[in-house]
Amino acid sequence: MEFLIHFHLIAAMAWIGGSIFMFVLGVSLRDKNKQKQVYPNIGPIFGYFEVASLLILLVSGILMAGDKGLIYGLLEGDESAIGEVFYNKMMLVLFVIFFTILHFVIAFKTNTKERTKLQNILSRTSSLMVLLLNLVVLHYAIILRSML
Ligand code: HEM
Repeated sequence: MEFLIHFHLIAAMAWIGGSIFMFVLGVSLRDKNKQKQVYPNIGPIFGYFEVASLLILLVSGILMAGDKGLIYGLLEGDESAIGEVFYNKMMLVLFVIFFTILHFVIAFKTNTKERTKLQNILSRTSSLMVLLLNLVVLHYAIILRSML
């Protein structure tokens, strides 16, 4: 099971690196015409890249957590320090998944169409939330590994 941390870390780099890159792109690419050329082309590729990274993170994470008895602790309501850190990480991961799904639904619905104001707000808010939450997940991941 020790090899799983390699997959988990590579997927975490791809997943978080992708969201940071898209944030930088969103901030720097302000021209509407350029956006219309870039986003419809890279959007779907980026989407599949991110979904694959998240799936690898979830599968490797669940396997490692199962191996270390953390899933059992989570279900049993383990109140120890490590149980709490793992619980916090899992809650944050649930929110990350929620905002990711919201972002993807809007992205796929509107990839080649004009967005409404509400769709724009929801899309930008959800991607910013994924980025910020990822940084907090990373913080808990580091604490968790130092405790194991
Ligand atoms: C957005 C999702 C996730 C991210 C970005 C993430 C990130 C990370 C990172 C960077 C580490 C290594 C920390 C270090 O080396 O200091 C780690 C460790 C770990 N993660 Fe995740 N993770 C995610 C989801 C999950 C999930 C869903 C689970 C379990 C259900 C999980 C379980 C674990 C465990 C058990 C370790 C420690 C493994 C060990 O020390 O052997 N992770 N995570």
